[in-house]
Amino acid sequence: MLASVYAPKDFKRLHVVGDLVARCFDHISDHIRAGISTGEIDSMVADFLKANGAKSSDLGYMGYPKNICTSVNDVIVHGIPRDDVILKDGDIVNVDLTAEYKGFHGDASRMFMIGNVSNRARELVQTCHDALNAAISICGPGVPLSEIGKTIEQVVKPHGFSISRDFVGHGIGKVMHDEPQIYHFYDKRWDKVKMVPGLVFTIEPMINTGSAECKIDADGWTARTVDGGLSAQWEHTIGITEDGAIIFTEAMN
Ligand code: MF3
Ligand code: CO
Ligand code: CO
Repeated sequence: MLASVYAPKDFKRLHVVGDLVARCFDHISDHIRAGISTGEIDSMVADFLKANGAKSSDLGYMGYPKNICTSVNDVIVHGIPRDDVILKDGDIVNVDLTAEYKGFHGDASRMFMIGNVSNRARELVQTCHDALNAAISICGPGVPLSEIGKTIEQVVKPHGFSISRDFVGHGIGKVMHDEPQIYHFYDKRWDKVKMVPGLVFTIEPMINTGSAECKIDADGWTARTVDGGLSAQWEHTIGITEDGAIIFTEAMN
């Protein structure tokens, strides 16, 4: 069940690819503003990865056609970048990037707010970020995997947002998607499964202003809220150490 347990030397590689993912975000961040298309963001990422000897883990994965996922407003996950999806004032967009470098994968996503965003949208984005950070902070050896979802619920529920149940975090390392699955809501089945040093996985909560119910577009990928409510997501790849957890997908000093 805990397939993605890695040795210290592998942690070094995971730091390197995670750093690359973080630097790619820093490279594109200033360009993510009103008037840019999600297709252009995809191209910028592709160029950055190529220049750094890395590649997108998404491209070609189960036939996925692009390098990143760009999920705008009511899109929960897996929005496909397009030249005719142009970001405009008031939009919120998630950019999700998984890269492979020297055989290891790093997976992270961030939210971007375009121009003047409504207060509720801003609260959604902030609450999701807080939920991810709170979940990371409780991770460590001996902690049940169910504590992740429990912690996310504690942060999100007071705001009245719903938590998506259709998509999960995942073990990661030499492959992009591995066991264990990481639930973003409390599920008692995970009470008995405890984190161990070396375990590497993502946490990637998706929360919504309305119902969490989701539907998939005709493209077979784009998942959006049924009621048209806004959706936000943040993601990091983390590793369990002897005394806690480290975030791989942050820039190294
Ligand atoms: N990065 C996504 C995740 O968090 C995976 C995207 S798979 C794709 O797991 F095929 F849609 F790109
Ligand atoms: Co991701
Ligand atoms: Co992921």
